[in-house]
Amino acid sequence: MGELLKHKDILDMSDLENKEIELIMETARSMEEILGRDLKKVPSLRGKTIINLFFEPSTRTRTSFEIAGKRLSADVVNFTSTSSSVNKGETLLDTARNIEAMKPDILVVRHQASGAPHFLGKRLKSAVINAGDGQHEHPTQGLLDIYTLKKVKGNIKGLNILIVGDVLHSRVARSDVSGFIKMGARVTLCGPPTLIPRWWNYPGVEMEWNIDEAVKGKDVIIVLRIQLERMHSSFFPSIREYVSLYGMNRKRFEQANSDAIIMHPGPINRGWELTDDLADCKESLVIQQVESGVAVRMALLYLLSLPKDLRDEPES
Ligand code: CP
Repeated sequence: MGELLKHKDILDMSDLENKEIELIMETARSMEEILGRDLKKVPSLRGKTIINLFFEPSTRTRTSFEIAGKRLSADVVNFTSTSSSVNKGETLLDTARNIEAMKPDILVVRHQASGAPHFLGKRLKSAVINAGDGQHEHPTQGLLDIYTLKKVKGNIKGLNILIVGDVLHSRVARSDVSGFIKMGARVTLCGPPTLIPRWWNYPGVEMEWNIDEAVKGKDVIIVLRIQLERMHSSFFPSIREYVSLYGMNRKRFEQANSDAIIMHPGPINRGWELTDDLADCKESLVIQQVESGVAVRMALLYLLSLPKDLRDEPES
């Protein structure tokens, strides 16, 4: 594991070269081996400090970054905006600069504004990991989805992947599409026309508006959460209509390939985008995705902590 990531930050899947993704996957496999031991802790990041800066709610991402840091023996500090001076009007940059004054090595940032982690990455010496920025990207989710799929399917190349639902508001979809296309998959999007950004221009991405047609021939179905909290106007007439036209259920799933699997980044709106039985069925990788998240985030923390002399310098 002597190789390095090119940049000091992990901000977008689109920034990562294929060989970097492969390095992260290979490192995550080693981390998974550690997670399988009785004593799940190694000293690799002893003396390093990781701060989780979360300005939006999170269950999976924040907890798995915390566990990942602790498994590597780093000191991990959690910052949440609700209990910070952000409530007194402090700006994002002032908050981050003050936190950086405490000498963290890595900042893990989730923010409601697209581009917030990039803004900080350019201005801070610490490594910054994007843990989800607005509607833009969620690269660590994209990486853990690649890791999970490689583990279950062996290879991403040649897979037919359907991403269904609220693509417009989904940072997961952007990272997934970018990563899967780089790795050689074919990606189809399906959802209400109001929730599919037509300005997307990814070579290899197809659109299919009818879900019953879209599932045919697919190896992987990724169901996205309906992000009501980001909808400030009506994008579809009712949840009942959404369920009827785009909800993933057993009957629809059975039209996919016989060895198809189902994924969802969580949190799931059960009974809306995905039925209960499918969320919990043997073909569902939902829990495995969360397991992969710890190994992949350990890999990222480890790789970003390697000597920095070959990486970008921050802007002064
Ligand atoms: N998948 C994901 O980002 O979940 P959380 O919002 O719980 O972190």
